[in-house]
Amino acid sequence: MDDQPVASLDAQCSLERLAMDGGKPVRTQPLPLEFPGIHYLDNEEMDAALRVLKSRSLFRFYGVDLQNEVASFEAEFAEALGVSHALAVTSGTGALNTALSALGVGPAQEVIVPAYLWVAVVAAVVSHGAIPVLADIDDTFCLDPKAVEAAITPRTAGIILVHMSGAPGDVRAIRQIADRHGIFLLEDCAQCNGGSVEGRKVGTFGDIATFSFQMNKNMTSGEGGCVVTNDLRLYRRAVACHDLGYARDEHGRLMFTDLDYCLWGGGYRMDELRAALLRVQLRKLPRIIAHMHASKYRIRRALEAFPGVQLRRIVDPAGDTGCFLITTYPNAEAARRVNRALRAEGIVTWPQGISNVVMTEWGLHLYYNIVSLVRQTSIDGRGFPWKLAENAGLARRYDKGACPAADSLFERSIILAIPSCLTAQDEDDIIKAFEKVLGREGLH
Ligand SMILES: Cc1ncc(COP(=O)(O)O)c(C=O)c1O
Repeated sequence: MDDQPVASLDAQCSLERLAMDGGKPVRTQPLPLEFPGIHYLDNEEMDAALRVLKSRSLFRFYGVDLQNEVASFEAEFAEALGVSHALAVTSGTGALNTALSALGVGPAQEVIVPAYLWVAVVAAVVSHGAIPVLADIDDTFCLDPKAVEAAITPRTAGIILVHMSGAPGDVRAIRQIADRHGIFLLEDCAQCNGGSVEGRKVGTFGDIATFSFQMNKNMTSGEGGCVVTNDLRLYRRAVACHDLGYARDEHGRLMFTDLDYCLWGGGYRMDELRAALLRVQLRKLPRIIAHMHASKYRIRRALEAFPGVQLRRIVDPAGDTGCFLITTYPNAEAARRVNRALRAEGIVTWPQGISNVVMTEWGLHLYYNIVSLVRQTSIDGRGFPWKLAENAGLARRYDKGACPAADSLFERSIILAIPSCLTAQDEDDIIKAFEKVLGREGLH
């Protein structure tokens, strides 16, 4: 199929009536749901959970028969990435809040965030009293280094690079910018756990990095997260901020003497049960990623026969975790038509999943859909942090139009989830549906 000449594709496409026009759909069975770690969940996780339950020790720091699951998970996760310190927390949102607290982010500071992200990223910046500054994305669908450079001001404290939709952003270029300006780089790896650039794992380039283990992620415990860093000071501050406000020494004792570590805690401690699940999922992560990667690149290779369709630029294909395929079309109308036609061919998932949509339907991943950002709302009703005297003049526009490259990519692109359990038949069907629809669209 990969090497099929264009002429034979033409002939094949012209024969088949689209399902949208009354033809026979490629498939009628919905595609599997997109939760990568869930498809690999089996007796191993159940045994691990039972082991913890039988110990009757669910809290990480003490118990009647403590298994040290959280501490073991942290050591194993740090080793898998190649970082000195990992701190397990209760969610990716908790990880972002903990990381920004560790970095000391607050009022009078700006933090650069991408136009394509998740609402939790902006929420963490705003909750700290800092001002988010949007920077546009490029064809990697992650931060455009040129836009980042242009967004830097004397108030910029740092950059949050979010590795979106399974594939790393241009982290080396962003790291250089951060170094040149002496500002921090936080990598949000929630959507790209296990991804890498030139053999080096995402999460190891930043001063600090965050992960999520919520159910949609590459490995999962339902909810969960992690903060990683090579910096002992940041790690200690993160330990303090995720817990009671105080760092711990190497024996786990609270430290009260150094005021740099006497802070305020968020209460994001990971529990033993979830850590036990995560230890099993971490061992399975390479297999989960290998499956998604193989499926995605088989489909991508088939799509190369259609030069009218632009494939997302992948910084390092070997380091792509493969959980999403993004294709971009010449204009918004073409993207909508192709998406409608693909869905009619049966390229859809069960109702509780979201797969195969034009990216304008991708909810709170799009800056202009985040109403609280666009309207600059505040929890106190008195304008925090936007109206703080220290933040005077810092807020920007956040409505549609603020990031034109992202706006154009969102309306011209389709995002398709690649579940970790696609069969060869599922892949054949996806390829066949694309070929049928794209041939009719004249995109070959
Ligand atoms: C990029 C990104 N950052 C942070 C989060 C927040 O993670 P959680 O849902 O575990 O709080 C998510 C979750 O989807 C995410 O996609």
